[in-house]
Amino acid sequence: MTTVLAVANQKGGVAKTTTVASLGAALVALGQRVLVVDLDPQGCLTFSLGHNPDRLDASVHEVLTGDLVAQDAVIDTADGVALLPATIDLAGAEALLLMRPGREFALKRALAPLLDDYDTVIIDCPPSLGVLTLNGLTAAQSVLVPLQCETLAHRGVGQLLRTVTEVQQITNPDLVLLGALPTLYDARTTHSRDVLSDVSDRYNLPVLAPPIPRTVRFAEATASGATVLAGRKNKGAQAYRDLAENLAKHWAGSELATFSPGSAE
Ligand SMILES: Nc1ncnc2c1ncn2[C@@H]1O[C@H](COP(=O)(O)OP(=O)(O)OP(=O)(O)O)[C@@H](O)[C@H]1O
Ligand SMILES: [Mg+2]
Repeated sequence: MTTVLAVANQKGGVAKTTTVASLGAALVALGQRVLVVDLDPQGCLTFSLGHNPDRLDASVHEVLTGDLVAQDAVIDTADGVALLPATIDLAGAEALLLMRPGREFALKRALAPLLDDYDTVIIDCPPSLGVLTLNGLTAAQSVLVPLQCETLAHRGVGQLLRTVTEVQQITNPDLVLLGALPTLYDARTTHSRDVLSDVSDRYNLPVLAPPIPRTVRFAEATASGATVLAGRKNKGAQAYRDLAENLAKHWAGSELATFSPGSAE
């Protein structure tokens, strides 16, 4: 059985793309066959996995519009993750899709013939709640919400959770909200923990373990075209490895390990 995971938060810069790339590479290291899908017209995931979106002939855009089958747009990356890339063309997909019936189902339909080839598919949603994110949530079995633990992190979470509920009611009744993933987490201050416990209490949202610490390695990795997992040992890479193990065990049937922001760590 293939697991399809959407990583979504309409707030920008909360480490959605970093999470998709690093978690994907960590699952490959665990022996899984992984496909990541770039649903952001900015193509940051595509770029961070070593491909220049401006030089690609085929992308998720043609797949969503039905001009190409998904197999023909998937490319390899240095980390061993298969990538369905995005180019700026995707910015126009929103308008094209809006005129079509079943527009929320375009990605789900396109991925269906590919699912047998992968153990896990991870979808990087853009920072909006538009038709592309609705496609990501409709194609997924579960959704993970990266949350940057800073003041006002809760703003927009309610709206995102309402969207998830609407998707569950209308296009994807089986969608499971896995929970929030604390990102850019600073364990040295109580601030990160306070923000996190406020958000998880306010929305009754499970918090996944482990929190991903803030480290400078991520910016370096993005520039190099390989994920942080490819570099030297560091605590950010280790956190994503631990998250990958937590999720892989959960998908094999165990309980999801959660993080309690109240406890010092
Ligand atoms: N744990 C971390 N420590 C330090 N920097 C990080 C960490 N995770 C991500 N970053 C940096 O934060 C920035 C935003 O990350 P990223 O692009 O993954 O966020 P995003 O949610 O996908 O953004 P967007 O909403 O624009 O798509 C990037 O420069 C990335 O390198
Ligand atoms: Mg992104």
